[in-house]
Amino acid sequence: MLGKTPRFLRIRPWKCCVERQRGISGQVFALQTRLRPGKGRRRTLEIQEKSFIVTGATRGIGRGLAELLVRHGARVAFNGRNGKNLEATGAALRKSGGDILSIVGDVGSDKDAQRLVAATLREFGKIDVLINNAAILGKRSPLVETPPSVWEEVLRVNVIGTVNMIRHALPHMEKRGSGLIINLSSGWGREASGYVAAYCASKFAVEAITQAVSEEIGASGVILFALNPGVIATEMLQEAFGCDVSAYPTPEQIASQWLNLFAKVDRSWHGTSRDLDKL
Ligand SMILES: NC(=O)c1ccc[n+]([C@@H]2O[C@H](COP(=O)([O-])OP(=O)(O)OC[C@H]3O[C@@H](n4cnc5c(N)ncnc54)[C@H](OP(=O)(O)O)[C@@H]3O)[C@@H](O)[C@H]2O)c1
Repeated sequence: MLGKTPRFLRIRPWKCCVERQRGISGQVFALQTRLRPGKGRRRTLEIQEKSFIVTGATRGIGRGLAELLVRHGARVAFNGRNGKNLEATGAALRKSGGDILSIVGDVGSDKDAQRLVAATLREFGKIDVLINNAAILGKRSPLVETPPSVWEEVLRVNVIGTVNMIRHALPHMEKRGSGLIINLSSGWGREASGYVAAYCASKFAVEAITQAVSEEIGASGVILFALNPGVIATEMLQEAFGCDVSAYPTPEQIASQWLNLFAKVDRSWHGTSRDLDKL
């Protein structure tokens, strides 16, 4: 099993046609698109028709990634707490075509995490890749001025949220004997800074969870690793730095780094910590 590369890199021409759109329980919106070989169309990686979950894709890195995946023919399920932003993301993704499933939900809620996994399995039949992206920064303040409520919320979303998603998706992947789980960490998950202690602690915890679970699942066929996406111009970065962040790359500008990741990922990455811009 060691060194075996998932078949993400099979290249095919494609075209797409919208098939149907429907809602489930008023909260789930799915748009099915069938992909067929098309003459003269651009070629794409075999992200195509893989089933992804990207948590927290209503803006920032998660949304940029979901857009990229849809453009390459993936089936993408995603969530976020803000229903309006979720619908706006869904509308934008539908324009690019693709199979999408969007569900309002909070990863820190065990029920919502379970619902996202169950709906993805119901709609797409499998989960090939889980990307635990959803996170919050919390209030930027010295530790002595940071109330327990901020600590509780940051740890609930960033740590328990990651755990909830893994707990619900992993058994399905283990049963199939394949799958990829990417836990979004941070440079602050490896070296902490002042004024964002809760966020740093949560990302150190994400690294720890990655190592622990990777040991538990061993050679199950599932690959799990922690990923620092780099310093990216998003609302979170703006909040973290408290100044203009327009000099940093946008989520759209790191698309080629994501494609590079999907082309390169293999079994040797299991349990490791990676940097998206240094693969
Ligand atoms: N930007 C950077 O420079 C940077 C650097 C290192 C690591 N990271 C990591 O990269 C990931 C994405 O960061 P970002 O900069 O794109 O952040 P962002 O712009 O703040 O976006 C975060 C996304 O997560 C969603 N979210 C937050 N809490 C959630 C919850 N409880 N349940 C479900 N969704 C939730 C948000 O949507 P709602 O508000 O609608 O819920 C939003 O879509 C995070 O894990 C972050 O720690 C970012």
